[in-house]
Amino acid sequence: MIINGKEISQKIKDQLKIQINELKQQKKRVPLLAVVLVGHNQASEVYVRNKVKACEYIGIASQVIRKENNCTQDELLSIIEKLNKDVHVDGILVQLPLPAHIDEEIIIRSINPDKDVDGFHPINVAKLFLNEEGFIPCTPHGMMVMLDEIGYNPGGKEVVVVGRSNIVGKPVSLLMLHKNATVTIAHSYTTHLKEITQRADVLITAVGKAKFFDQSYIKEGAVVLDVGINRDENGKLCGDCDYQAMAEKAYAITPVPGGVGPMTIAMLMTNTLLAYHRRSYGI
Ligand code: GUN
Repeated sequence: MIINGKEISQKIKDQLKIQINELKQQKKRVPLLAVVLVGHNQASEVYVRNKVKACEYIGIASQVIRKENNCTQDELLSIIEKLNKDVHVDGILVQLPLPAHIDEEIIIRSINPDKDVDGFHPINVAKLFLNEEGFIPCTPHGMMVMLDEIGYNPGGKEVVVVGRSNIVGKPVSLLMLHKNATVTIAHSYTTHLKEITQRADVLITAVGKAKFFDQSYIKEGAVVLDVGINRDENGKLCGDCDYQAMAEKAYAITPVPGGVGPMTIAMLMTNTLLAYHRRSYGI
């Protein structure tokens, strides 16, 4: 089975669009997402454009604040401070990576946690750790929704996550744990990686290496969620997994492109509407 992220994300966006239309009909204000983009990182430009396009499709208002590469940390902090105070702004997203002279941790910590739709602020990280309601980072959240969509319950299953980043590996491991999975986190220091991944009922790959995993890494009938976005030897977009080879052995697998990627934006939109409702009604 192919887990079609494009289709699932489209369905979510259409549901959100209906909810925004209802707000409009009730003459209520619509949610506003502020996106801060510093410099001209090519991938970031594409991501931000896609985020704005998704907002436009759904009917969420968006505001992009662009700064040149030489923007100082203090300038950026004062922009965020303004957005924090602006009652019309529901969600704030600072596109990463930031230029080297700016400390990402300081910037992330300066965002009001109630507007932190990326779920990167330590308050939201702690809430995720404690299984309390905050904002769940978009990519891990999207993966959980994908499993839900195919009717797969990770409870009691062996989930192996390869990669331990703060925005994918660690949060998805916690989400799986909260769904009662038995979770193993493997990483670049892991020895006998293949023995570990072969045990997986669900394999999550987030290592950023083109086609690193082939069918020998999984058991028959595993579910594979591929978070990698890489270029292969011909410059074509591909995941961390050799999709063609693994698709024959897996029960279900996400393609790249069209898998986990589109889900990230759908979940960002979901988080923005969530921020709006929490701020509007104080829940
Ligand atoms: N850069 C790459 N992925 C992300 C993301 O999910 N959020 C932000 N803010 N920046 C990113």
